[in-house]
Amino acid sequence: MTIRPIIIHPDPRLKKKCDLITCFDTSLKDLSDDMFETMYNAPGIGLAASQIGVMSQIFVMDCALKEEKPNPLVFINPIVSWSSEETFTHNEGCLSIPEQYDDVTRPAVVRVSYQNLEGKASKSLCEGIEATCVQHEIDHLNGKLFIDYLSSLKRRMITDKMKKLKREIVRK
Ligand code: NI
Repeated sequence: MTIRPIIIHPDPRLKKKCDLITCFDTSLKDLSDDMFETMYNAPGIGLAASQIGVMSQIFVMDCALKEEKPNPLVFINPIVSWSSEETFTHNEGCLSIPEQYDDVTRPAVVRVSYQNLEGKASKSLCEGIEATCVQHEIDHLNGKLFIDYLSSLKRRMITDKMKKLKREIVRK
């Protein structure tokens, strides 16, 4: 397992729609292992493949609280097949936009259709933080970031901060 570098916004790869996965082999399992390693190390509760520069429709998530046992989940080719009218507002962050948080309102409950690592079709009903997380990660696979829900002024301010951060990283 390898910790992969996480791409920081702005980057064209974070704005692109990822490709459907059609090959369910051991390299896909290896990719998901690396994604978990990278996510837990960050630490974060979700990571989409595009955030490590792999343009495929897969994300990993683990929303278990610290005192709970880990709950690693892999979603491949996921789509939201149903969402509630009731909404939930969460102060979201993103590993590709470090240390920036803002409120995003999304459907409170969603049904997600996806495939597992063996390619088997599965469905999951998600609520609370899990619903927020799957919608945030599916957005990533469609080239959308949580800051796209904010005002253009806020988005520009955050993007400028990230450009500065990236210049500082390069200098180190
Ligand atoms: Ni994110």
